[in-house]
Amino acid sequence: MERNWWKEAVVYQVYPRSFLDANGDGIGDLRGIIRKLDYIKELGVDVIWLNPVYQSPNDDNGYDISNYYQIMDDFGTMADFDELLAEAHRRGLRLVMDLVVNHTSDEHPWFRESRSSRDNPKRDYYIWRPARNGREPNNWRSFFTQSAWEWDETTGEYYLHLFSKKQPDLNWENPEVRREIYRMMRWWLDKGIDGFRMDVINFLAKPAGLPDAPPADQPSVFGGPLYANQPGIHPYLQEMHREVLSRYDIMTVGETGFVAPEHGVLYTGADRRELNMVFHFEIVDTPAQLDLPLLKAIWGKWYHGLKEGKGWNSIYLNNHDQPRQVSRFGNDRQYRVESAKLLATLTLTLPGTPYIYQGEELGMTNVCFETIDDYRDIEMLNRYAEQVAAGRDPQTVLAGLRPKCRDNSRTPLQWDDSPQAGFTSGEPWIKVNPNYPAINAAAAEADPGSVLHYYRKLLRLRKQTPALVYGDYRCLDEADPFIYSYLRTLDGERFWVLLNFSDQPQTVALPDELRHSRRELLLANYPEAENCGAVLPLRPWEARLYRMAMESGSAERA
Ligand code: NOJ
Repeated sequence: MERNWWKEAVVYQVYPRSFLDANGDGIGDLRGIIRKLDYIKELGVDVIWLNPVYQSPNDDNGYDISNYYQIMDDFGTMADFDELLAEAHRRGLRLVMDLVVNHTSDEHPWFRESRSSRDNPKRDYYIWRPARNGREPNNWRSFFTQSAWEWDETTGEYYLHLFSKKQPDLNWENPEVRREIYRMMRWWLDKGIDGFRMDVINFLAKPAGLPDAPPADQPSVFGGPLYANQPGIHPYLQEMHREVLSRYDIMTVGETGFVAPEHGVLYTGADRRELNMVFHFEIVDTPAQLDLPLLKAIWGKWYHGLKEGKGWNSIYLNNHDQPRQVSRFGNDRQYRVESAKLLATLTLTLPGTPYIYQGEELGMTNVCFETIDDYRDIEMLNRYAEQVAAGRDPQTVLAGLRPKCRDNSRTPLQWDDSPQAGFTSGEPWIKVNPNYPAINAAAAEADPGSVLHYYRKLLRLRKQTPALVYGDYRCLDEADPFIYSYLRTLDGERFWVLLNFSDQPQTVALPDELRHSRRELLLANYPEAENCGAVLPLRPWEARLYRMAMESGSAERA
């Protein structure tokens, strides 16, 4: 398999709004990030991915861009950005930007022109359709609830928006649109950025004729699969590769909902000249109740689908759109520290480029706001309003929406136990999680047993272990509901990952093939790993990483 820096890299995702506020206005900013570059570097990651920092009216926290060539006022200036880039590079950190080109803000000058008259030269930059029988052109719903079509009085037509009505979809069939986007991408790459995370990139090509979506069980994603992976997407991405990406030494990761490994191969196969890797949703879309065999099956399927250079994957359990991983897949109460470390062990040893979302390295948890007034996320607010308007009890609606709400991961990063967790000297744009006096970076720094110190050790270890990047992967217990045990093997080196995904102690019988190998414990999340004989007892959420000798010999105490 070809070796590439972006396969070996570990990415740290910064959500600028909630990272650190340097000027006291309650909103995180670029100067805040500059201040914490040493913290990020020390963690041991290689790349920073910044959520959108472009000019935006913030209907969807920056995913509604009104000027691709300017920095959002809340976040600072282009001079701040240039300094951030230079300072990151000076520390050997690369910087990847979010690329949001399925849609713009309705306040983007292109859209202002487009909506001004039917014969405006920019009319065709967006997707306009006349009414059908006095109603929307089709039955599509937006991801943020309600119709994906908005009626525009001025010209008497509807425009398409798969997200909020302030995020009109661009018309990628128009070559002028594509040229403008490529020009903009080159402008940023010429500045020296190191790649793009591409927002809903597999939605760019719309289905021919914009047909009605078949009825779906989940009305909120009505039409979702229809919006994705249309055949036209591949020529667009190949053109983008030819015109832009191939000219730079960069990394690209496509956010791609509704994909299976068959699609992954098309988007990421090296010979395809499209993207380096994708974020699929199959793990984060599993049911709320942890189903370990299902998770193993998904990771296994993706590994086998992409192995031997057929493609490349990314590994993540949370981000700014998902609940906190320790709350979702671990136990954020009694075993918060243990399960946060176990999940780190998992994501940093599975095949694929790992992504760490800010605060994950501290074991930050979901938040539970008492009232809807404390929530900020447009998706949450729209869903709440829709369900309450339909007559449901507001408290029940709130309780139902909380676990998956995007604000769970958008509360400010908890730096210390001073007011507002040291995030701001002002009033934060969203409330700080009240658990900050106990869970914060300063406390983690001072505690050698903290989640933070564990991440640092694990990242150092990963750096020295090519098998964790390029090694074969083999699951040893696909059906076990609590234990996840797998091998990573490369060039005569073999590593064994052993994880107990439960609140109860478990025992693991040593598989025959490992019974006679010498083993060396490299890392564990309990102070002393018990390690006797052919049966290993594992404590709740215990995680171990062993180096296993390839040749047989007598088992050694760790
Ligand atoms: C995916 C982004 O991650 C999410 O935050 C955003 O709301 C939508 N795309 C729309 O841009």
